[in-house]
Amino acid sequence: MANIAILASGNGSNFEALADTFDNDKENEIRLLIYDRKKAFVSQRARRNNIPAYYLNFSKEKKDMSDSTLIKLFNENKIDIIVLAGFMRILSKFVLENIKVPIVNIHPALLPKYKGLNAIERAFHSTDQRIGITIHYVVEEVDSGEIILQKSIKLRRSKGLEQVIKDIHKLEHKWYPYVIKKLCVNLNSRKNL
Ligand code: GRF
Repeated sequence: MANIAILASGNGSNFEALADTFDNDKENEIRLLIYDRKKAFVSQRARRNNIPAYYLNFSKEKKDMSDSTLIKLFNENKIDIIVLAGFMRILSKFVLENIKVPIVNIHPALLPKYKGLNAIERAFHSTDQRIGITIHYVVEEVDSGEIILQKSIKLRRSKGLEQVIKDIHKLEHKWYPYVIKKLCVNLNSRKNL
């Protein structure tokens, strides 16, 4: 059994895709969601899916406390893998050093291109022929960890930016659950050794 924690900040469409995938999974479980914006729609999605959700305040004054709470929640829930799904914060060095399980992120661009914010927009306004997503491990430097999977599609600018954004999200919702599930299977087979 692999226990999954998801960290998110906003809409949570990737969270939902993951929740759907793991809903009837007897081997693995999404144990909790942590979100850092009080009004994040992802918290409603968690409620609807009966997944415990915890709001943590990472503002400057509360950061140290929230970092410790984060680690405590991971330990108490015996978390095996941490999945960032639109989490708009950089995990602190303290957190990264104290977490001994894999942390995975999804980025809506073909890294190492377009690290950081507004990646789809920047790719759309480039001269690139293809656009895509990257699923990668998290390290201290943003959007720079080892790449697990990349998927791309032809960039059809004539469709307009909005449609391209939708196409990218579709790609994310297909491949993020697929990768996380595979990683869980690998973790489980290691546990069974
Ligand atoms: C996704 O595009 C993801 O790649 C990026 O943030 C976005 C989150 O979308 N890291 P959602 O909240 O999952 O709908």
